Amino acid sequence: MKKIPVKDIKIGDKVLKLDAGWLDTPFLKHNFVVKDQKTIDKLIKSGVEYVYIEKRNETEKIKENEIIEQVIEAKKENLPKEYLELKDLKPSFELYKKSVEIVKNVMEDVRAGKMFDSSAVKILADKIADITVANKSLLTNIAKLKTYDDYTFQHSLNVATFASSLGKLLNLPVSEIKVLVNSGILHDIGKMLVPKEILNKPAKLTDEEFAIMKNHVTAGYEYLKKSGFTEDELKIVVEHHERADGSGYPRGLKDEDISIAGKIGAVVDIYDAITSDRVYHKGMYPSKAIKLMFSWTDKHINKKVFEFFVSNVGIYPAGTIVLLSTNELAIVGDVSKKPLEPVVVIFKSHTGQDIAPITYDLSKPTVLKKKIVGPVNPENIKIPDEVYTIIEKMNEG
Ligand SMILES: [Fe+2]
Repeated sequence: MKKIPVKDIKIGDKVLKLDAGWLDTPFLKHNFVVKDQKTIDKLIKSGVEYVYIEKRNETEKIKENEIIEQVIEAKKENLPKEYLELKDLKPSFELYKKSVEIVKNVMEDVRAGKMFDSSAVKILADKIADITVANKSLLTNIAKLKTYDDYTFQHSLNVATFASSLGKLLNLPVSEIKVLVNSGILHDIGKMLVPKEILNKPAKLTDEEFAIMKNHVTAGYEYLKKSGFTEDELKIVVEHHERADGSGYPRGLKDEDISIAGKIGAVVDIYDAITSDRVYHKGMYPSKAIKLMFSWTDKHINKKVFEFFVSNVGIYPAGTIVLLSTNELAIVGDVSKKPLEPVVVIFKSHTGQDIAPITYDLSKPTVLKKKIVGPVNPENIKIPDEVYTIIEKMNEG
């Protein structure tokens, strides 16, 4: 940290603290990255004389944050249109199912003390990364369907596909995405070294049991290290339970010391865990999970990585044609109340037949909740005029 006069501040500086009381400045937050001249002008006008900034030679980390910020900005302005191709859906679904099987086999081998098949994981990781690079939304969308029971295996794969998707959005090179996916698949492998009674206990763990559970991180790391994995390949494995404020484990690292892979790992691990159904609790709805996680930013998770993740979870503007988890086609109508669970108009049945349009609120709590799988290319789909009339009315008020 370095104290400098406000007039010396530069774009890109990370302000850690203002040398003024919170009530004495127009700034809601006293901790931010100076993104433009406007912020500098505002600082000068506010009468604050000195600020504390992160030392400029720590630029590597600032650069990393800047890159993320720039991509978020670019994404906000120019949402890329990547559609689910309905014809690709079935093979991808099959691949996902098969992948869960592979992960399950590899992980169960670890539990049984058999030879660890790292090549199976590497081949799978390469495949997932390649699909992500070709069509970033496909597997992530399938991961959202969560139709399997084997939590640990499915969770491992979901973390890998979400991480892969984030890696693609961050424009990481394919080689790095592959490392991310590999590490994502294996992030919880240490759980195979935790006794099953503790791992699957349908109640709160005792302190002692929790300590054993926590040890899955170190146990997994050491196991993979012995199997020939490099430090880089193990970042998600060893850092996915670290928290930005230093309250995580095993090393209690702070945000600035957690790698980008570790930050991504924590966000996708938490998101997938709280939105999945478990023996003892039902998964939270995405909108609720996002809201809750937002309250954890900076404290537990890195805000920028989280914002980036949210922009990738799927907020579809009104008028987007979407595939629902029931295989029905619908158009997004009113997004004003719950952008992640909008009101839609369903116009095609699960068998692809035209039906009389049904207005449906996706946020409505029901036993079998319908979810958006992803956007569909509108080119070859004919939408009855009356559907548009309904949507227009909806958005008039
Ligand atoms: Fe874990």
